[in-house]
Amino acid sequence: MQSDLQIQLEQIADGLADKSYAIIDHFLTDEEVIAILQSDEFKNSKLHFKKAGIGRQQNKQILESVRGDFIQWIDPHSPPAATKKYFTKLSELIQFINRSLFLSLKAAEVHMTLYPIGTFYKKHLDQFRNDDHRKLSIICYLNADWKEPQGGQLRLHLPDGPMDVFPQGGRLVCFRSDLVEHEVFPATRERFSLTGWLVDHIL
Ligand code: OGA
Ligand code: MN
Repeated sequence: MQSDLQIQLEQIADGLADKSYAIIDHFLTDEEVIAILQSDEFKNSKLHFKKAGIGRQQNKQILESVRGDFIQWIDPHSPPAATKKYFTKLSELIQFINRSLFLSLKAAEVHMTLYPIGTFYKKHLDQFRNDDHRKLSIICYLNADWKEPQGGQLRLHLPDGPMDVFPQGGRLVCFRSDLVEHEVFPATRERFSLTGWLVDHIL
């Protein structure tokens, strides 16, 4: 019998092959989400997280009008204990996708992300103009009982039209970093996630 994780990995690979994205609920269990949020690394996050940048852009006003999130990179060689399950699942995902889609992904670079109330990230692509190592964008949300009126949706701009994904705890979103433009809408509550990229080089 296939494990739940195997079924989810297949759903991700199928989604990526068919439509360049996949959305998987319960990639992390409620308990795993709570453990991450209650870890020291996430507590007092507003004190420790650093304002995210865009390229080499340092102008605060320009930055503020593009993205308002705070981030903290995770060292993939010693991730916080509470995130280890997640990193294990990501390396299984890498192996599965390499076998099924003939890619040569090597690692996951991941940061913890906080969007304070009212902040957003304007429409963008995750691949840098002069750096194509980011192959797949992969985001896992950490917000228990998110309600749609609270906003905070990720909007994927797809050939068939826009598609909104709400940041429900445990939900994983994966999409082609070179293809799928997307944006994050402001929310009426703080919005937490693990945001990352599967890359084709060793970290
Ligand atoms: C990003 C991003 C989407 C999200 O960090 O590049 O687009 O839903 N995040 O948090
Ligand atoms: Mn993005």
